Amino acid sequence: MTASDPIHFLGIDIAYFIATVLFVVGLRYMSSPTRARSSIWIAGVGMVIAVVATLTVEGDPGRRVLIPIAMFLGAGFAFFQSRRVSMTDAPALIALYNGLGGGAAAGIAFVELLRASEHTSSLRFFAVVGALAGSVAFAGSIMAWIKLRSDMRRSVPFPNRQVVYLAILVLMFLVGLVLASSNTAHPVLLFLFVLLALFFGISMTLPIAAADLPVLISLYNALTGLAVGFEGYVLGNPAMMVAGTLVFASGSLLTRLMARAVNRQLAEIMYSGFGVGGDVSPSVRKEGFINEVEPHDAAASMAFANRVIVVPGYGMAVAQAQHKLRELTQLLDERGVQTAFAIHPVAGRMPGHMNVLLADAGVPYEKIADLSAINEEFSHADVALVVGANDTVNPQARTDETSPIFGMPVMNVDQAGTVIVLKRGDGRGYADVSNPLLEAAGTRVLLGDAKDSLQELITSIKALD
Ligand code: TAP
Repeated sequence: MTASDPIHFLGIDIAYFIATVLFVVGLRYMSSPTRARSSIWIAGVGMVIAVVATLTVEGDPGRRVLIPIAMFLGAGFAFFQSRRVSMTDAPALIALYNGLGGGAAAGIAFVELLRASEHTSSLRFFAVVGALAGSVAFAGSIMAWIKLRSDMRRSVPFPNRQVVYLAILVLMFLVGLVLASSNTAHPVLLFLFVLLALFFGISMTLPIAAADLPVLISLYNALTGLAVGFEGYVLGNPAMMVAGTLVFASGSLLTRLMARAVNRQLAEIMYSGFGVGGDVSPSVRKEGFINEVEPHDAAASMAFANRVIVVPGYGMAVAQAQHKLRELTQLLDERGVQTAFAIHPVAGRMPGHMNVLLADAGVPYEKIADLSAINEEFSHADVALVVGANDTVNPQARTDETSPIFGMPVMNVDQAGTVIVLKRGDGRGYADVSNPLLEAAGTRVLLGDAKDSLQELITSIKALD
């Protein structure tokens, strides 16, 4: 050790400390839509500092070259991929990246368990837990990514799944015990352990459908954090420990909040067979019962209303209609109509999806209310304007016990004087169930792409003057 070594190590510790502070500040800033953009930069700078500090500790000259090359390739791919991705595909991409993070942590655990003799039993235990969490997160997230990208949205149930889960868990527990307690490497057992964990992740995701998939993706995100945190202990890397723990803690909280938003218990989602079978209730679906409305009639009912509550959904994101929506509500405000936006916690395809789009369009935050704050207000509203939302306004969730969305709190738009729905056809929502709201007496459907329909409404309201 040279004289400069203590200074070098002190410098690295300081770098890790600064990185940690930046991670925490970045996460804190995420809670506000106005500061969310800067939070990404703050946490990103923290990550660059942590990576550079880690590279300076790496003794192997070969790895010092290989690591930056791998990072350059991975970051380059992600950068260009993310620039091209549409807002509507972002959740699938997030599931994919989250899965890769879990896979990377499981890869580290795999290598470290092959060097079992170099670690204490407690570090081997951490590596085993990391391998388990990382492999489940990897396989489950990739399966979720495939489901989001394809038509496999519905549940793919298999018989006796609880028994299968229990058998895999018992087997993994026994194999994991051997791996953690033995100070010699067991490559075959290790391989079996990872295979079992991958199978567990896939089998846990296959039966999940409808509103439960985002909750599960959030759970996998938490598991990735757990895996990274544990591998941080194994490698003695404080930045990994802190970053992993932060992701685990925030991911667990988000999972809890999302499960609560769709009125589920996590265990219910994972084990009870919710979403298995019966996704569609065909008896309720009747063609031709939709009451269509012309743009000028819909415009008039809003222009002469006292109160209009707007409920945006996934279709608004597809149509990129948020700017037109803002323009429409501004016009109504100028006419003295009271307008507000009601946001369901799982509207769109990712947490905060609608809030981000509305903030992007410059809708003032004080005009935006979440489900619990505004749901009682619909009965006092003259018009509920539903823009590309479906599952989140489906009254079936309140009344039909056989529905896969039964129990999910929904916007009480049907209690407003008139409901105007903007959508393109009789397309269903994400849960693929029929929506009696569309056939209700007080509902009027303005057919067409939401952006075009909103433009027509704006033109019609201007023509009233
Ligand atoms: P959805 O139930 O997905 O309904 C979207 C509606 O938008 C469809 O009925 C569709 O009907 C319409 N639409 C699509 N493109 C349109 C366009 N260009 N113009 C006008 N309308 C258009 O939306 P939601 O109410 O926001 O509910 C979200 C669902 O996604 C929930 O089931 C939720 O659990 C699930 N999910 C949420 C998340 C998170 S975390 N938010 C993540 C994954 C899944 P047409 O085809 O007839 O136009």
